[in-house]
Amino acid sequence: MTNVLEDPAPLQLNYVPDEFQDRENEASSLKASFAGGEEAPLPNLHVHGPRGTGKTQAVNSVFNDLPKRVSKAYVPCHRYDTQYKALKQICKAFSQDVNDGHHTSELQRRVGEQAEVMKTVVILDEIDFLLLNDGDDLLYFLSRLENSDNISVITISSNTEKLESLIEERTYSSLQPRRIGFEPYTGGELYQILAERAKNALASRSLQREALTYIASSTSNVDRGLTWLRYAAKNADNTITEELIREVEASAYQEYVNYLLDDFTEHHYRVYEAVFEASEEGENSVRAGEIYEMYQDLCRSTEQEALSNRRVSDYIKNLELLDIVQADYYYGGEKGKTREVELC
Ligand SMILES: Nc1ncnc2c1ncn2[C@@H]1O[C@H](COP(=O)(O)OP(=O)(O)O)[C@@H](O)[C@H]1O
Ligand SMILES: [Mg+2]
Repeated sequence: MTNVLEDPAPLQLNYVPDEFQDRENEASSLKASFAGGEEAPLPNLHVHGPRGTGKTQAVNSVFNDLPKRVSKAYVPCHRYDTQYKALKQICKAFSQDVNDGHHTSELQRRVGEQAEVMKTVVILDEIDFLLLNDGDDLLYFLSRLENSDNISVITISSNTEKLESLIEERTYSSLQPRRIGFEPYTGGELYQILAERAKNALASRSLQREALTYIASSTSNVDRGLTWLRYAAKNADNTITEELIREVEASAYQEYVNYLLDDFTEHHYRVYEAVFEASEEGENSVRAGEIYEMYQDLCRSTEQEALSNRRVSDYIKNLELLDIVQADYYYGGEKGKTREVELC
């Protein structure tokens, strides 16, 4: 522990603060959706807004306040990104015994039975990852259950405002989710949120106002801001100055990327490294083909077997959903479609 960091916990990303500032409207929209009483049909919702705006936390806190007789399943779809994996998680949340032997239809039947006997809420967080695969089938299935008034499907996305742009028409018209949007925090709001978390973590008077202002004016993502502040605190002698904040910017961002990639495979990290290395070499944006070559080189140097070009291409898409890279697609030319990728 340094002189500055007295208690790292409040600056950790999984810490739940006592007070949740500036999200009253969103939280009350969420609560209102469930306030219809015993007989009211449960709502389907699509919650969207940029990464780090408090969506996961707000939804989960409403969810935890629901009565005990409602069965609940929370699925982080970046980790469970196929219908099969997601169904298994849902069954597990209902305390059902599941192993790898079950067929998809068997898992669907169990979820259907659960919704027959109990009001049920299923939260599909980071839904975009599931929709890269067969997520549409899962959403269609859930929306068409016999007792659909008894089940609420909540999708959460940091990438997609309008779910209808990603799913089939028949799924959308059957699901009809109400949209709840989370706006990015303003600089002032982010400043307040970070100041509140810092108050319980740092030694008094160890954080200069300008340092916090600099972070709050550079990002509206709370996770990124917290990681940055924590990183600076670990590296400060006595005071966190604006100069130190600027100095550690790149390394703190790296730490944030590592945190995002923690839930993914080693090869995702290698693909990220490949984009990083390839962009160091030349221009900012790199063609997908060059990334694949760089990735193969990296695998060779660590004596690992490289995945196929197609898999790597899927992984680039995952990095795009995490806002680590952005990609532009060009059509035409010899190879049909090309993709140019750059770091965010
Ligand atoms: N209004 C707020 N007050 C305090 N902490 C917040 C607030 N909004 C977000 N956070 C914190 O920011 C981090 C990101 O929130 P999260 O719900 O994971 O965002 P999202 O799901 O939108 O990416 C969490 O550590 C959370 O505690
Ligand atoms: Mg989230």
